[in-house]
Amino acid sequence: MAQPRHAAAQWWRSAVIYQVYVRSFADGDGDGTGDLAGVRARLPYFAELGVDALWFTPWYVSPMKDGGYDVADYRAIDPAFGTLAEAEKLIAEAAELGIRTLVDIVPNHVSDQHPWFRAALAAGPGSPERELFHFRPGRGPHGELPPNDWPSQFAGSTEPVWTRLPDGDWYLHLFTPEQPDLNWAHPVVRQEHEDILRFWFERGVAGVRIDSAALLAKDPALPDLAGAPDPHPFVDRDELHDIYRSWRTVADDHDGVFVGEVWLPDPERFARYLRPDELQTAFNFAFLSCPWDAERLRASIDTTLAEHAPVGAPATWVLCNHDVTRTVTRYGRSDTGFDFATKAFGTPTDLALGTRRARAAALLSLALPGAVYVYQGEELGLPEADIPRARIEDPMHFRSGGTDPGRDGCRVPLPWEAGAPYAGFGSREGPWLPLPEDWASYAVDRQAQDPGSMLSLYRTAITIRPVFGGGPLTWLTAPDGVLAFARADGGVLCVVNLAETPADLPAHTQLLLASGPLDPEGRLPQDTAVWLRA
Ligand code: GLC
Repeated sequence: MAQPRHAAAQWWRSAVIYQVYVRSFADGDGDGTGDLAGVRARLPYFAELGVDALWFTPWYVSPMKDGGYDVADYRAIDPAFGTLAEAEKLIAEAAELGIRTLVDIVPNHVSDQHPWFRAALAAGPGSPERELFHFRPGRGPHGELPPNDWPSQFAGSTEPVWTRLPDGDWYLHLFTPEQPDLNWAHPVVRQEHEDILRFWFERGVAGVRIDSAALLAKDPALPDLAGAPDPHPFVDRDELHDIYRSWRTVADDHDGVFVGEVWLPDPERFARYLRPDELQTAFNFAFLSCPWDAERLRASIDTTLAEHAPVGAPATWVLCNHDVTRTVTRYGRSDTGFDFATKAFGTPTDLALGTRRARAAALLSLALPGAVYVYQGEELGLPEADIPRARIEDPMHFRSGGTDPGRDGCRVPLPWEAGAPYAGFGSREGPWLPLPEDWASYAVDRQAQDPGSMLSLYRTAITIRPVFGGGPLTWLTAPDGVLAFARADGGVLCVVNLAETPADLPAHTQLLLASGPLDPEGRLPQDTAVWLRA
């Protein structure tokens, strides 16, 4: 077996982790849906990109009512993707290339097709089977009103989080009705998830992404939100830390790492998940959501580093994922930040501008101390796709009453071959989501030949990124609108110009990499980044 790219224990402190959305990555059998055969055939792609690990969004048996985040069997692969034996082969083959695997565990809820929920439905009100979930009688004279006033966790959704059954009971689902929430106060729920973690660690995975990690614990009284009860009845409750401490002992038996999906505005509360006996890492959504603005980015970087330091956890740097508007599109708009609440159809976008900024942002995030996540297609500079309304599948769209475009635009299959039907994704049948007509120009085979492409930039940047060394960040004096920093031990600088005026480069012996051309005077133009040897 090849040496992992980061042989050291704690490889995750500085790793580049590539997010694979299996359904849209590569189609091995030509049916228009991505699969494990497709991923296995493309393993050399990851090696060439230089990533340390792959995070697979849920690949388990699922009715796909929420892109696989509705899991019916956590120990089996969805037949549309392949088999467990194939997943095991994939994990082993990736390891041979020095690439680790992370799986995605969804603990807050299960699919309504999960055996537990089916049993709970069959067993009826008051049964022990229903205690694994949150079943309650309704309010109102006939129980016709939902048990409380909690809002949906799909931003923009006007739909209730309770569904009533013909037998009169209501059940809680913070997301869709096909995703009933589990009762984490129940010991069987805890036991089962620790077994699932062991199951995947025993299959060779190096880590686990935890879905909706701050939502699992609920106030057992399920009080209304109106009147602002403190602590919050279902977000960021203290009981969660006990759950994750227990998970950590399971992970430690297997040298496993966690990355939590923790969306919390308060940096201090966020950092509590990263205490030494809890999760090693969590996604940095503050950085992802930050507008393309030098002062705000610098503040976001400083807050990130300051919040992680006391708990000794490494930062993560994330620009996009399968839930948010793709980076080149976001950065090409007048509002360059990300907020679920402001997503809309038809937002004007300058893709050339967004792409220039995304290239600079790639060099910025890959130069910062910590781990970096790359979402499939980010390395190709794919924009958010416009999905014809009739083809939209994402429940976020439907649960917003059709006002939110949903997340399908960032989940479109990857274009592999410019000259092939459907750009090489699916052959017998077209891809499950349509590729925009001009996407051949983004195809991997075309970009691989072009030294100026986004793919070439990512390949080079990830490969030479170790020149920065492992040291902390030091800001350098720079004009307004320019971010310039060094990493203590490397003697390598990163400079990003977000200002209109071109910036003089600091003294350097070598230009290692640039996100775009310098101006004729050798200065750094707006929305351009460079890596320099001091
Ligand atoms: C997470 C996932 C998202 C999913 C939700 C419910 O936020 O990233 O895709 O819809 O959880 O599981």
